[in-house]
Amino acid sequence: MNLKIYKYKQNYLDISKTDEIIKLNSEKNIILDIGSGEGEFLTELAIKNKNELHIGIEIKYGRIIKSLKRVDKIGLKNIKFIYGDINPIVESIFYSNNIKNIYINNPDPWPKDRHIKNRIIKSNLLNKLFQILIRNGEMIIKTDSSEYLEYMKKEINESKFKKWKSYKKNSLPLTKFQKDFKNTNKEIYALYLTKN
Ligand SMILES: C[S@@+](CC[C@H](N)C(=O)[O-])C[C@H]1O[C@@H](n2cnc3c(N)ncnc32)[C@H](O)[C@@H]1O
Repeated sequence: MNLKIYKYKQNYLDISKTDEIIKLNSEKNIILDIGSGEGEFLTELAIKNKNELHIGIEIKYGRIIKSLKRVDKIGLKNIKFIYGDINPIVESIFYSNNIKNIYINNPDPWPKDRHIKNRIIKSNLLNKLFQILIRNGEMIIKTDSSEYLEYMKKEINESKFKKWKSYKKNSLPLTKFQKDFKNTNKEIYALYLTKN
């Protein structure tokens, strides 16, 4: 196992440690960012909301290290990153339904037909996310792909989320990908889902 990640004890959440998982589940109103990339979006949120715990989950090691370096430099205590794949770990690490907000910014669109199976927005994952949210908890998903947007709507309609609408507000920080899109004037679509 790479050792670099263990340098960032304050912000790296090691899910192989039972005590860390127990502590996580004793927290209230967690903010979760799935596919958190290099962590800039979640870091901005954590700076603004000092009283809430922010958790980023990212499957790419290099991006986790960049995220950890970023928050370590600032000395932020209310943000942690998990290195792993959201699909197998979501239920095992969050079992006390204590998530207030979930953000999924620009999940990889996998536009080719033969790659569609790799998309993360599927009714199966959506149902697991529905489960871990608090009552009236919210989820916002953003994408620049109109094709993936339609696919997402279909998957949402097959999931436990019964309420969703297009998200119009513009108060969230922009992610690295969204800043790049902004320069090209590409539209970013957003969906707002609630658990109620
Ligand atoms: C297009 S990037 C967007 C990154 C960031 N959210 C942003 O908007 O700048 C998608 C991110 O999701 C991560 N990712 C893809 N599949 C994942 C999975 N199953 N679990 C966790 N992260 C995943 C990728 O490694 C990548 O960093």
